[in-house]
Amino acid sequence: MITIAYHDSTGETEKQDRWAERLSQRLGPVRLVALSSAEAEQADIALVWSPPPGRLRQLGALKLIVSLGQGVDHLFSDPHLPDDVPVVRLVDPNMSHALSQWVCLVLLDYLRDGPAYRKAAAERRFDSLPQRHTEGLPVAVYGLGAIGAVIADRLAALGFAVQGWSRQPRDLGPSVQTFHGPDGFRQMLSACAVHICILPLTAETEGLFDANSFAQMPVGSYFINGGRGRQVNEADLLDAVQSGHLDGAALDVFAVEPLPEAHPFWAEDRISIWPHVAAQTNPDTAADQVSRAIQAVLDGGVPDHVVNKARGY
Ligand code: OXD
Repeated sequence: MITIAYHDSTGETEKQDRWAERLSQRLGPVRLVALSSAEAEQADIALVWSPPPGRLRQLGALKLIVSLGQGVDHLFSDPHLPDDVPVVRLVDPNMSHALSQWVCLVLLDYLRDGPAYRKAAAERRFDSLPQRHTEGLPVAVYGLGAIGAVIADRLAALGFAVQGWSRQPRDLGPSVQTFHGPDGFRQMLSACAVHICILPLTAETEGLFDANSFAQMPVGSYFINGGRGRQVNEADLLDAVQSGHLDGAALDVFAVEPLPEAHPFWAEDRISIWPHVAAQTNPDTAADQVSRAIQAVLDGGVPDHVVNKARGY
C-alpha cells in the first residue's frame, strides 16, 4: 500500500477522493491521508499545494514531493523544504490547453471591446465602435515552457505576430520569433502591443514587470498575467493603467491571494480580475503523469519533470 500525504488549497475532500480513485486505478492500493495527520509521517509521497512551511520536513519516509500545480514557488517558499527529496511539477497538456484558452479569451475580449459592448447591452444601446485592426498585431509571450509554447502557437494561428521570450534561447519554428536574456526582454517590451506573462516565479522574475518595464511598452499596450502575481509591481501596474500609458490588464494571479477586499484593482474597470482559475488542476488528466512519477521513484528511478532546485522551476 502506498501512502500519500495530501494537501490542497480547498480544504475539501472532493478533490482528494478523486485523486485517490485515479491513482489507485493506475498504481494499485493507495491511501491518501491529510498532510496534517499523524499517518502522514509514514508517507512515501507528498501530493501538495502550498503546504504549511516546515511540515514536509517532518515526513521522514518521504521519497517524492509532487506539486499539485505547474508552479512550484508554493513549495520553494518553505525554507525547510527537504533538500534530498525530488520535487516534480505537474506538466498536464490539459492545463496548457486551459491556460491558452484563457489567454485567447481575455485578449480577444479586450481587442473586440467586450467590456464596452457588455456595458452598452446592459443599457440597451445598439452602438458600434470602430473595429481594431489586429492582423499581424505584435504580441509578446514571456515564458516559453510547456504552457507558453502552446500559447505562442495558438496566438500565431489567430493571426498575431508572436514574439516569445525565455531565459535560454528557444526555437519554436517559423511562426514565433524568439528572444532571450535581458536585451531580448527589452526588445520585446518596446516592440509589442500586448504583453503576456506566463513565467515561473524565481528570484529573477520577481518584480520583473515594474514601472520601468511598463514605461518601455508602447502607449496603449495591454498586459495579461497568467504567471504569478509577485512578478508584477502592482502599484506600478495600477499607475500605468490609470495614467493611460497602458490600456488595461487581465490578471489571474496576484501578489496576495485571495485578492484583499480593499485592493485598488477592484475599483479599476480597465483591470479584469480572475480568481486564479485560468488553469485548474484536474486529477482526471494529471493522474497519468503523477502515477508515472510515483512508480519511477518506487522503482528506484528518476521521474520526469523533476524541478531544478537551483533554477527554481
Ligand atoms: C499552477 C497554478 O501552478 O494554477 O498550476 O497556478
